[in-house]
Amino acid sequence: MARKIIIDTDPGQDDAVAILLALASPEIELLGITAVAGNVPLSLTQKNARIVCELAGRPDIRVFAGCEAPLKRPLVTAEHVHGKTGLDGPNLPDPTMPLAEGHAVDFIIETLREKPAGTVTLCPIGPLTNIATAFLRAPDIVERVQEIVLMGGAYFEVGNITPAAEFNIYVDPEAAEIVFRSGIPLTVMPLDVTHKVLVTKARNDAFRALGTPVGRAVAAMTDFFERFDKEKYGSDGAPLHDPCVTAWLIRPELFSGRHINVEIETVSDLTRGMTVADWWRVTDRAPNATFIGDVDADGFFALLTERLGRLGRA
Ligand code: RIB
Ligand code: CA
Repeated sequence: MARKIIIDTDPGQDDAVAILLALASPEIELLGITAVAGNVPLSLTQKNARIVCELAGRPDIRVFAGCEAPLKRPLVTAEHVHGKTGLDGPNLPDPTMPLAEGHAVDFIIETLREKPAGTVTLCPIGPLTNIATAFLRAPDIVERVQEIVLMGGAYFEVGNITPAAEFNIYVDPEAAEIVFRSGIPLTVMPLDVTHKVLVTKARNDAFRALGTPVGRAVAAMTDFFERFDKEKYGSDGAPLHDPCVTAWLIRPELFSGRHINVEIETVSDLTRGMTVADWWRVTDRAPNATFIGDVDADGFFALLTERLGRLGRA
């Protein structure tokens, strides 16, 4: 039985790869994509999500536009990482598939009310504004969510947008606090693990060697989006943050982590958006998240490359 999911996203090259992996995998039934403002403004994230669906040959996928700003703060974007369009690198055509009717938050609420309780997993891979807004507007859906598997936060890796915070949490810390305190089973892919899946040249060559439009586009995306991390961390390739969420759904055994308490800093300006992860269990705060720290990187890329190879082959 395929796992029913909603991907909430701010594409973003790594978001694009996460969506492609989901669309290439029979273990996953993608009920819809909800776009949120993050890496670039909503007008671009909702467009980029549709570009990716068409690249995958899936114009049937419903893409909804969601919140264009965080709950309480002005939007912070990341063009310096993802480029002006948010999907710089490949030269992909504008989408022809229409945006789905209705707001993303209403789609999340309606889907969770319609489907049997405990059968829909939410996969946020951008700021958590849409998810938190849905929970605020319809508290009854919280207990109906099967699980949340998200990309965000950091502990040993600390921040990538500030010294203390990872981007997705930093943009909307109040939304993150609502999600992390929801009581829903939560699996977190922080920078601690995503910085271990770097698109080295050999891995990028393997994408290109697929010889398909998807393979070439993904190679171009990761070629573009590695600059920021190479310059900042001296890493030898782009970290594939968001595809860790999709890969976990397919092969969780590639990953390992700890069930611990994770709280969100929302008050201090200095550390706003920090995920305070009690990795060493030094507090008596109740565990609320499975915080992933390690991955079999070669296994991850073998899975990803094989699955991407399935897209666009007649
Ligand atoms: O910090 C990495 C996260 O921020 C990823 O989801 C990336 O797409 C950006 O949204
Ligand atoms: Ca993202």
